[in-house]
Amino acid sequence: MNRNIPTIGVFDSGFGGLTVLRSLLSLVPSANYVYVGDTARLPYGSKSRETIARYALSSAHFLAEKGADLLVIACNTASALALDDIKADMPIPVVGVIEPGAEAALHTSQGSKPHVLVLATAATTQSGAYTRALHALGLRATEKACPLLVPLVEEGWLAEPAQAAVTLEVLHIYLLEALAQAPDASILLLGCTHYPLLKPLIEATLRNLHHPMRIIDSAEATAGAVAALLPRATAAPDVSPECQFYATDSVDKFQRLGSVFLGRPLHQVHLLDLGG
Ligand code: DGL
Repeated sequence: MNRNIPTIGVFDSGFGGLTVLRSLLSLVPSANYVYVGDTARLPYGSKSRETIARYALSSAHFLAEKGADLLVIACNTASALALDDIKADMPIPVVGVIEPGAEAALHTSQGSKPHVLVLATAATTQSGAYTRALHALGLRATEKACPLLVPLVEEGWLAEPAQAAVTLEVLHIYLLEALAQAPDASILLLGCTHYPLLKPLIEATLRNLHHPMRIIDSAEATAGAVAALLPRATAAPDVSPECQFYATDSVDKFQRLGSVFLGRPLHQVHLLDLGG
C-alpha cells in the first residue's frame, strides 16, 4: 500500500457498508481502503449490545493492525451500539454513520423542523441513537424496525418480478405501520446500510401509499464527514490507491454480492477469521 496517502479502514457486518465505501471512493479518492465484511456473524441487527460491541471491536482492531489512519463504522447497528466503545479503544479517529445521517436530514429540511421517519434494524431502533441525534438537531423522529429487509437484500430479491413483488409487499406493510405512527413524516432516513439498494422499491411503495417523502441515505453524508477530516485526500489521486477486502465467510459470495453493493467488480478479497 502506498503510505504517502492515508489508509481508511471501513467495516460492516457484511455487504451494506460497501454502499458507504462507494461514496468514499468518489468523495475521498486519494486514500487506500481496507474493508472488513463480518459476513460470518451477520446479521448484527438482531443481536445484543454486548455482542455487537465485541464483534465491532474485533474488526476495528484488525483494521488498526492493517495500518488504518482512520476508521469508518459503515454499519448503522454498530454505530448505534458500539461507537463509544470503539472511540474509547482506538488511538485513531473514528467516524460512524448516525450523526452524518441526522445532519443530512437537517440540511434537507431547509430551515423547517420536519418529522423524520427512520427505517433501521431492531437493534438500531432499540438503541434510540437516531432519535437522540435527530432531537439534538431540533428535528422530530420516529424509528421503525424492519427486520425482514436485510435478508431480502442479502438474497437479492430486488429485481426479478416475482421476488421484487414479495419485497414490495413487505415494504408496504412496514411503511403503512410506520406512517400510522408518523403521519406527518416528510423525510425518510435509511438507517441501515443495506437499504440504499431498496431505494427504487421504497419510492414505488411511497407512490402507492400517496405519501411522497425525501429519502436520505447516510452513505454520502458519512463520506462527507471523512472528507472534512482528510481534505487532502479529496483531490484526484496522483498515485494508485489500493482497495483490499476481507470477508469472514465465503469469499466467492462476497465477490458476487459485494459487486452489486459497490457498483463495480471486487478484487483482492481475502478470507478473515475474527474468531467466534
Ligand atoms: N449493515 C447493518 C446496518 O447498517 C445491517 C445488517 C445487519 O443487521 O447486520 O445496520
